[in-house]
Amino acid sequence: MYKIVYYGDKRLTTENEKIKHIDDTVRKQVKKMIRTMFNKKGIGLAAPQVGINKRIVVIDTSFGEDKEHILVLFNPEVVTKSTETNVMEEGCLSFPELYIPVERAQSITVRALTLDGKDVEFEAHDFFARVIQHETDHINGVLMVDRVSPDKRLEVSGELAEIKKMAEIV
Ligand code: NI
Repeated sequence: MYKIVYYGDKRLTTENEKIKHIDDTVRKQVKKMIRTMFNKKGIGLAAPQVGINKRIVVIDTSFGEDKEHILVLFNPEVVTKSTETNVMEEGCLSFPELYIPVERAQSITVRALTLDGKDVEFEAHDFFARVIQHETDHINGVLMVDRVSPDKRLEVSGELAEIKKMAEIV
């Protein structure tokens, strides 16, 4: 299992390397990321959140219902976004116990490389689209607090300071 990297840690906001070859190292990292995600009860996890600066994302597409539906995406890109949006409370393993309302596109088109080396493009809607947008943001060094208004960010500044303290201890 990996340790989770918390808000305040530079590894969350640095550049992430593109996956060009799906080798044993990458496959092992994916397996360990999936274990970590389930252990921490997350529904999505991006590699920088476990201190690996690579463009890897794992998603539990059952959203916590079972462990059989896992989506692994390398180099995911959101290529189109609907103008329709919705706002929902979002959480993140790198922000323990913080839930904030984030506005996201309702529908998106995603391009990525799959675990078996195929280039895919697919549509995602609603909550699934939200999870992909959140995880793809991580790969680009963007965090959920970067997606809220300055007012909201100010409102949770106390919590953010507490999480930053944890990041220093870990
Ligand atoms: Ni997150």
